[in-house]
Amino acid sequence: MIILYYSKHGFTEKCAQLLAEHLGEDVRIQDVRKTPQWSANPGEMVILGFPVYMGSLPGPVKEFLQHQEKKLLVNPLGIFISALSSRRTAQSYFTTLVPPLLQDHAQFKGFFGGALEWKNLNPFERVILKTVKGMQGDVSNLNLEEIQKAAEELQKLVPGGRPEVI
Ligand SMILES: Cc1cc2nc3c(=O)[nH]c(=O)nc-3n(C[C@H](O)[C@H](O)[C@H](O)COP(=O)(O)O)c2cc1C
Repeated sequence: MIILYYSKHGFTEKCAQLLAEHLGEDVRIQDVRKTPQWSANPGEMVILGFPVYMGSLPGPVKEFLQHQEKKLLVNPLGIFISALSSRRTAQSYFTTLVPPLLQDHAQFKGFFGGALEWKNLNPFERVILKTVKGMQGDVSNLNLEEIQKAAEELQKLVPGGRPEVI
């Protein structure tokens, strides 16, 4: 399995790492910003993870999807989104922001919560969060249980993955 992710401030990266830890061996993680080229073995599951900013896909994710959509349709696909909003809103991001063909193709959808550290934000982001959302200071609603469940679900989807215990 390969986990491709974009993370502006590190939370999505942390989710990718936690998911990989729960999945165990044979999982590669790749930051699409640092290494835009990627390849997957035939039939290998590809997981794509990214955050939502201002109700939109970050620019690098839009660009990645524009160039890689066809390639992402070849292998089994899973997508996870990191966002601070409620799960319901995060689910609506999936249907409004992910290209329809990828939505249909994705066998797995994950919503792991979101987090931000105030000290990591740039002045523009701080002003936006303060004025639009009334937020100030660190926030986290990381859903560890959801990551663990995701790993279990994914293991059942991959050929040779752990069988369900009856
Ligand atoms: C400027 C700014 C705008 C954001 N806008 C949204 C938003 O519209 N909806 C949402 O659910 N979360 C929003 N978030 C929260 C991020 O999605 C969340 O912090 C995410 O975990 C960041 O991931 P990253 O650290 O990998 O970049 C926003 C965060 C910032 C700093």
